Amino acid sequence: MEVLRRWVFLLMVVVGECREPVLHRVGGGKYTWLPGSNYTEWASHERFYVGDWLYFGFDIHKYSVYEVTQTNFGSCMAEDFITNITRGGRDVFNLTDARPYYFIDGRGYCSKGMKLAITAVNAPLDDQETPKTSHDSSSSKPYLHQLLTLLFAITLASFFLQ
Ligand SMILES: *[C@@H]1O[C@H](CO)[C@@H](O)[C@H](O)[C@H]1NC(C)=O
Ligand SMILES: *[C@@H]1O[C@H](CO)[C@@H](O)[C@H](O)[C@H]1NC(C)=O
Ligand SMILES: *[C@@H]1O[C@H](CO)[C@@H](O)[C@H](O)[C@H]1NC(C)=O
Repeated sequence: MEVLRRWVFLLMVVVGECREPVLHRVGGGKYTWLPGSNYTEWASHERFYVGDWLYFGFDIHKYSVYEVTQTNFGSCMAEDFITNITRGGRDVFNLTDARPYYFIDGRGYCSKGMKLAITAVNAPLDDQETPKTSHDSSSSKPYLHQLLTLLFAITLASFFLQ
């Protein structure tokens, strides 16, 4: 039992250190960039980290997506956009910086709720200044632990897959 506990702890440490970028489906589904949604509500349940991606799924014939300034977000003005994210209607956007981002539809539906404001923050463990406690010897051998964790994950998986 103790061994299992330690493995689970190591797994959590390693997963935390190697956080994979997350793809956030705006609105929660495959085609949920639509009028009448409340993206403030949706965003309040997500955490956006630098390196994560946004996915906008929508009908290319009706809607579009632009990154705009905060001012243009407020007034639903797409003309002076920062980035035209519109491509084929299954479009992704990389959150490359720790800052606020503003997105709107440019075809008249911004005022009907097609607007999204989010803030991307640095992932917690990008923060190299986090002091390691002295008894935390695991930090000195990250590759060994990654390897061991991988082996553990494989072992665990093989139990469940039997
Ligand atoms: C959207 O949801 C937010 C947070 O839940 C709420 O404060 C806001 O009033 C809602 N907006 C609309 C237009 O319903
Ligand atoms: C996009 O994000 C990934 C992490 O998800 C990052 O490694 C990559 O450099 C970014 N790509 C671009 C083109 O900015
Ligand atoms: C944005 O990109 C889409 C698809 O490439 C294009 O149809 C549209 O005209 C562009 N919008 C502007 C304002 O350039």
